[in-house]
Amino acid sequence: MAHKLAFIGFGVVGQGLAEILLEKKEQLKEKEGFEATVVAISDFIKGSIYHPNGLDLDLVLKTLRETGSLENYPQTSGLIIGWDSFQTIKATNADTVIEVSYTDVKTGQPAIDHCKAAFESGKNVVMTNKGPVALAYKELSEIAEKNGVHWGFEGTVMSGTPSLRMPIETLAGNEIKEIRGILNGTTNYILTKMEQEGVSYESALKEAQELGYAEADPTSDVEGYDARYKVVILANYIMGIPLKVEDVSCKGITEISLKDIEEAKAEGKRWKLLGKVKKENGEVTASVAPEKVEITDSLASIGGAVNAITYECDLLGPVTLSGAGAGKTETGFSLLIDLIHINRERKPVVV
Ligand code: HSE
Repeated sequence: MAHKLAFIGFGVVGQGLAEILLEKKEQLKEKEGFEATVVAISDFIKGSIYHPNGLDLDLVLKTLRETGSLENYPQTSGLIIGWDSFQTIKATNADTVIEVSYTDVKTGQPAIDHCKAAFESGKNVVMTNKGPVALAYKELSEIAEKNGVHWGFEGTVMSGTPSLRMPIETLAGNEIKEIRGILNGTTNYILTKMEQEGVSYESALKEAQELGYAEADPTSDVEGYDARYKVVILANYIMGIPLKVEDVSCKGITEISLKDIEEAKAEGKRWKLLGKVKKENGEVTASVAPEKVEITDSLASIGGAVNAITYECDLLGPVTLSGAGAGKTETGFSLLIDLIHINRERKPVVV
């Protein structure tokens, strides 16, 4: 049975997933038995369409490209136009809500309320918005559990790189006592550009914005707030520590000059913005701050917009994972992998 999807928000990431669903349609059906039907898309700016029997995704993307509005989708019997996000979440026949709305990073809204509405209507949610997980993990996971639905948020940390699912599934049985990582692509890109090409902080930031790595307001990247959210998500979800945003000390990279970078180089070191959380003797410490790491450190060689994370495991020792931390297809993939996992659990297990 096809998995019915409703998109809440249809910006870069949402369209990234839509393109993947079109491109990989046959492969997903053949290899995973995964078939998706997009029944609704509701975007604050681009408009809203719903058809209980499904929308033609190719036509949706073409309509948007050519007219800028979803609501110019060809009229067909049964098509409903103009439902807002909450009507779409509650009243459509979707199984799963793809929550990629434009959300205030400080309050996590409207994404938090979107999640609640979806769970309470018996719908799964897959999302990339960090706010709901960083600010309301406990409350939302309890509501999802109570309603027997899935909540996937792989893309909130390191886009589609499995920084959440990999430790939960394949490092299970270890105690993870510390996590440290390069969790923000924009700042790593800036530091790499400054070191390798001697470009100023301002021009490196401008490039990162042009390449689409930075948040809508890059203050969140350069002041470390984006990485701080990711530290909170990792602590709660991977380490089971009920860490809050205000528990994480936070310093960004705005004060790092080309001179600092040259000095570190002369010492055989390299500046990296590190997010860390550590549990020792019952005490938890968590921070985001720039650090001069030894050139031999596994995180030192991670350049550009790439992210990397090291999990300190009691049985296995340090395990480092690196990969994309941002990007349209990479983050679109994070939603796909959450959907694939929901689909695998829906399928009857053959023994
Ligand atoms: N602005 C973020 C980054 C995007 O640069 O890493 C992914 O969270």
